[in-house]
Amino acid sequence: MAPPALEVHSDPAAVAQAAAAEVARRMAEAVAARGRFTLALAGGSTPRALYERLADPAGPYRTRLPWGQVTVWFGDERCVPPDHPDSNYRMAHQALLRHVAAGAVHRLEGERPPPEAANRYEAHLRRELGEDPALDLVLLGLGPDGHTASLFPGSPALEERQRWVAAPFVPHLGAQRLTLTYPVLDAARAVLFVVSGAEKAPALAQLLSPAAGAPLIPAARIRASGEQRVLADEAAAGRRAG
Ligand code: 6PG
Repeated sequence: MAPPALEVHSDPAAVAQAAAAEVARRMAEAVAARGRFTLALAGGSTPRALYERLADPAGPYRTRLPWGQVTVWFGDERCVPPDHPDSNYRMAHQALLRHVAAGAVHRLEGERPPPEAANRYEAHLRRELGEDPALDLVLLGLGPDGHTASLFPGSPALEERQRWVAAPFVPHLGAQRLTLTYPVLDAARAVLFVVSGAEKAPALAQLLSPAAGAPLIPAARIRASGEQRVLADEAAAGRRAG
């Protein structure tokens, strides 16, 4: 399995711009080919600038993309209500979803008991996608420890190959999370990592060129059936753009 292709941009704003253009391109292609675009949003802070770029009223995306044919999913969620400051849904809703009329938005219900929320989301995915969860595009971030979505190093969720949604307890956070598992991430037609900041450089290096003999970081264990790409700024990539 080839490592993800890396595209370096000067700074986080340039990464957000490039990521927005790629989301738009894939959206238009999917809708033209299949009449819909299924997109899983990433959480954390990095994707906010991407979502704001897509929703920018002065930009080319908010009014000119077929948002009505877009079904929005989430890669992971914190186990908090949707209006909680830590909620990935809240961040995406504020930055993007309240500005565009997506055909459907399926949030992970962080306010429910985690096992129940995971079961409900998996049932929803299976109802909508059938037995092949081939999302058109999964957006992912990268943690300094190499985690992605809420798949953290050492988590039992890394070994889950049947269930599509897990509710792992994350010891160093002292909290449970909800996350898509590798069966869904691997089925994706495309995976796009959006990474910025020098603190991500060691993890990004491990993603792009895993050290022989060392355990793979969670992000590097994805074996997407489709394209895997990384958009990173110079600080995370450790080299200049271009
Ligand atoms: C989350 C994300 C998580 C995130 C990374 C990077 O819920 O926090 O899903 O995997 O993508 O931790 O986070 P930043 O973008 O905030 O650095």
